[in-house]
Amino acid sequence: MAKAKKVYECTACKETSAMWMGKCSVCGEWDSLVQRTTAKEPTTANVAANFATSIASSIEQYGGVSEAIKILEIETPTVGRMSTGIRELDRVLGGGLVLGSVALIGGEPGIGKSTLMMQAAIGAASQGKRVLYATSEESAYQCKLRAERLLEGEQVGESGLSTLFVLADTDLARITKQVLEIKPEFLVVDSIQMVYRSDMESVPGSVSQIRRCCLELVYLARQLQLPIMIVGHVTKDGQLAGPRVLEHLVDVVLNFEGDRHYALRGLRGIKNRFGTTLEIGLFEMGQHGLQEVVDAASFLDPDAPPRAGAVVCPAMHGSRCLLIETQALVTQGTVGQTRRRASGLDGNRFTMLTAVLEQHANVKLADQDIYVSTVGGLKLTEPAVDLALCLAILGAYNGLVLQKGVCAIGEVGLGGELRTVAQIEQRVAQAKRRGYKQILVPITQVEVAGENSVGVASIADLGSYYEKKEEITTSESWLSDRKKKEILKCT
Ligand code: TYD
Ligand code: MG
Repeated sequence: MAKAKKVYECTACKETSAMWMGKCSVCGEWDSLVQRTTAKEPTTANVAANFATSIASSIEQYGGVSEAIKILEIETPTVGRMSTGIRELDRVLGGGLVLGSVALIGGEPGIGKSTLMMQAAIGAASQGKRVLYATSEESAYQCKLRAERLLEGEQVGESGLSTLFVLADTDLARITKQVLEIKPEFLVVDSIQMVYRSDMESVPGSVSQIRRCCLELVYLARQLQLPIMIVGHVTKDGQLAGPRVLEHLVDVVLNFEGDRHYALRGLRGIKNRFGTTLEIGLFEMGQHGLQEVVDAASFLDPDAPPRAGAVVCPAMHGSRCLLIETQALVTQGTVGQTRRRASGLDGNRFTMLTAVLEQHANVKLADQDIYVSTVGGLKLTEPAVDLALCLAILGAYNGLVLQKGVCAIGEVGLGGELRTVAQIEQRVAQAKRRGYKQILVPITQVEVAGENSVGVASIADLGSYYEKKEEITTSESWLSDRKKKEILKCT
């Protein structure tokens, strides 16, 4: 037998470390490491000697070996699904919640998780389903107030939601007891960070508590064929003592993202055992909760005159194409201390594009501060936005505007060449539908894109798509005609 060793174990997450530390390096808990002695580990020789007997004893203990079957002979039961009544949420889930599955919805505090969950609970209850909303963060009264707000001031009692139950509790054992009593057909647990098992020593919110509570909920879902949605908080940098450790335990992981300062929210699938993760649901936070956004073209002002540094790109969000405006601002900076900031766009890709522009488009950006962003707060990560972004930076740098009714799609390579993008037909069709008369596309895709499309071979040629030097005298020239009329009316 090998020698027994001394290790330090974290009381919160049970991780071990060879030396004592003030803070657990895994869960971040302070002063949680205690010394213990490891059990004696068998040596390799012992393992070999005991191999046969250990297998025999485990067969005896666990009631025989399970039998492998041919993949063709495995029966595939049809998965039952339940609609949440919210089309965008159902779409991201792959057609509704699968019975007996557990979905985790993560997102920063204040993004609208509780609102979405209450809307889903109301949606299911409106179909006559029994729903239990277990809240561990708010009181039952606060939940009712929110439900009333979502129902546009209509009294909850009048809306026929007699099958929606609210439980304000943090003890998972009591929540489970209520589930067994009420027998809901849909359960919401808001949030996993606040529920706890009283028989565990660690504090609520610690990794071991969260993991254990989540496992119990998964067990409950499987046993009762009950669809469960769990809410989990995520911090800004994604470093959380919660949802990340749960991702492998649950069936579906959704991320609710967006900028709290904007109304637009995206619901993205990160993992889905019953559907695709390519879909994204779009919502707009309003006075009466989250409204589904079917077409984000409403974020473009059709009357807006072309501006330097603003270029529209037909970008794909899941299976949908949305026209998103990319903007750039280029100002004089100091060599070596230039600022490069990207909001709603991939920062690394943006830095790479500025280098490509400098090399192949004959611009000197080394002493320029550059800021780029998308309008509306929606995140755009696909490389197809490259061309629009390059045009925006060039336009902002030279003070040039694109002709009215021009938008751009295309990936830019390190050599400045334009590369093909996926779903070009769909993008061009959407741009045309929205009144764009000229769509700049990679030259290799002109034929596929059809009429109205103009092929671009390299970013070295971008200058020819610009019209004239823009005369910016006052900030008023940035306002659309409609806005100007509104201002005139007021004065
Ligand atoms: P909430 O759902 O509580 O966020 P989370 O559960 O993710 O922490 O609410 C998010 C914000 O949305 C909150 O600051 C208030 C706002 N809100 C509205 O603007 N309209 C509404 O109808 C509701 C219910 C909330
Ligand atoms: Mg909440």
